[in-house]
Amino acid sequence: MSDPVKMPTSPLAGATPRGPARVVEPVAAATDRIFADPKPQTDFKFNKQTASVFDDMVSRSVPFYAEMQRMTSEIAADFAVPGTSLYDLGCATGTTMLALDGVLDPGVRFVGVDNSDDMLAKARAKLQQAGVTRSYELVNADLHKGQIVENASVTLLLLTLQFVRPLYRDRMVADIVRGTNERGCLILIEKLTSADTLFNRLFIKYYYDMKRRNGYSEVEIAQKREALENVLIPYRLEENVEMLKGAGFKSVEVFFRWYNFCGIVAVK
Ligand SMILES: C[S@@+](CC[C@H](N)C(=O)[O-])C[C@H]1O[C@@H](n2cnc3c(N)ncnc32)[C@H](O)[C@@H]1O
Repeated sequence: MSDPVKMPTSPLAGATPRGPARVVEPVAAATDRIFADPKPQTDFKFNKQTASVFDDMVSRSVPFYAEMQRMTSEIAADFAVPGTSLYDLGCATGTTMLALDGVLDPGVRFVGVDNSDDMLAKARAKLQQAGVTRSYELVNADLHKGQIVENASVTLLLLTLQFVRPLYRDRMVADIVRGTNERGCLILIEKLTSADTLFNRLFIKYYYDMKRRNGYSEVEIAQKREALENVLIPYRLEENVEMLKGAGFKSVEVFFRWYNFCGIVAVK
């Protein structure tokens, strides 16, 4: 007979999960065809056009997106404490907060942060439509400016730190640590690069194969790669882990890995 799993006590104190974390497939409003027609590319932007197809784009472009969202809810449920806040930095259309609402104690306040009004408008509509009644706020703020997180038991940075300019990342993570309560956590999901050129090349190949399987054409893949080139700057796994530990997180663990994508949980 196996021993019952012993859960950590402190992060769970007072939290009453409302239900198990489920896979929430984002409801795709419109199909992403942004890069379908060949044309000279400029830097990728989270503008109105991107926001209008974002849910479809992210679920076809990020491997195991729905499962990573489910895992995020599952982990967050063990760290979120009533009377504190959960920050979703780079909340985009609010998919994660929507999933978390069914899982977390109603006494946990949500703060969704993004610097795209178009994304925040989508998030607001989705949360209103779902009838979310907990205390929540959607804030337009630039993560480069810092000082956002306060009294946090959970902070999420899902597919967002990779868009923050490297010069600002250490300071941003340090601000998150400062605003996180003892035993609070940061959940980070990032695209990665590798120092090993062979694996780097292979993982990128497997990634583009996944995009083909999800219906993206060669033109779409090539044009989006060009548009993201100066905008999405992936770190190596070791760089992310060092950054989190260096900022003051005591425990850092990888909870998800698929070739060049990973999920990391860091506890203060
Ligand atoms: C890939 S999306 C995140 C997706 C979302 N977290 C999810 O899991 O579905 C990145 C988001 O970060 C936002 N973002 C990028 N740079 C930002 C910055 N400097 N300040 C605030 N938000 C930013 C974008 O507007 C976008 O909505």
